[in-house]
Amino acid sequence: MSADRHPFGDDRVEADVSTNQSHPEATTDAAFKRGVRQMWALGNYAEFAHEFVWDLGPELVQAANVRRGQRVLDVAAGTGNAAIRAAALGAQVVASDLTPEHFPAGRDNARATGVQLEWVEADAEALPFADDSFDVVMSCVGAIFAPRHQRVADELVRVCRPGGTIAMLNFSSVGLFADFLGVFQPYMPAPRPQDLPPPLWGDEAHLRALFGDRVDNVRLESNAYVERAASPRAYCEFCKRTFGPAVAIYAGLDAERAAKLDAAFEAFATMNNRAAEGPIELHYPYVIFTANPVDRAGLAGRSAEPG
Ligand SMILES: C[S@@+](CC[C@H](N)C(=O)[O-])C[C@H]1O[C@@H](n2cnc3c(N)ncnc32)[C@H](O)[C@@H]1O
Repeated sequence: MSADRHPFGDDRVEADVSTNQSHPEATTDAAFKRGVRQMWALGNYAEFAHEFVWDLGPELVQAANVRRGQRVLDVAAGTGNAAIRAAALGAQVVASDLTPEHFPAGRDNARATGVQLEWVEADAEALPFADDSFDVVMSCVGAIFAPRHQRVADELVRVCRPGGTIAMLNFSSVGLFADFLGVFQPYMPAPRPQDLPPPLWGDEAHLRALFGDRVDNVRLESNAYVERAASPRAYCEFCKRTFGPAVAIYAGLDAERAAKLDAAFEAFATMNNRAAEGPIELHYPYVIFTANPVDRAGLAGRSAEPG
């Protein structure tokens, strides 16, 4: 992505709209998604994931109770954090993501683990899979980044068979992730009116409203994981080099604004360090949401136990 590209979309959307008057909303959204994909492809997500979130994949797979032979979809799979762990248990896994630039590293990860899975480019808001295709549909800090939450929830329910399992590992609505986004917020474009922020996916009332009575056995478990770095400065520099959204935001700043953001980011890492000495430790709280889609034909009493 060039330095002048909008970090969460594409400033040239209006030009696209004018060339396709028949479906302006679809065209606008497609241009927005292209910008989002370009943003996530920046940096080195494989390196970021291994350093900070690689322990979360197995946790989600365990919460989803993935078993041998099940058809499993990982939504916004990145480089395969959860998908590869599910495949290692003998499941038939599809790893999907808006950003296929992640897939070569994902394939390397899969090869190193000795598993095979399918990699499919897919928007969490419009999944290219048939109804009821999967026994388990999961997402590890992934689908939360698709801004139309209701569309995402609708798609997760649609592609998961009744009695199957939907499992999401989402950052908590309050806490370090929300604060992290708050540091970058002043440097980001205003969200589109229809878009909701990622931390809302950590809010129980929001989750219940999104999924409604289309799921039962809703469970939420709270936990936290730790990101470590040699110093606040090292933490910031690592994120600036590897984490696509941070790379994109910095690329759009002049030297003065970049220095201001540097100061705010380093203050965030310093203030939130929980370690008394040695490497810094940042504790990111998250929730694991699991639920079972009910039979859409209205077959009451159907077992929610994945079979
Ligand atoms: C923080 S990464 C998480 C990746 C992976 N699940 C993991 O645990 O490492 C967020 C991922 O969401 C993907 N993403 C963002 N918006 C998306 C969308 N609308 N549909 C599908 N994937 C999306 C990005 O490409 C990125 O791979």
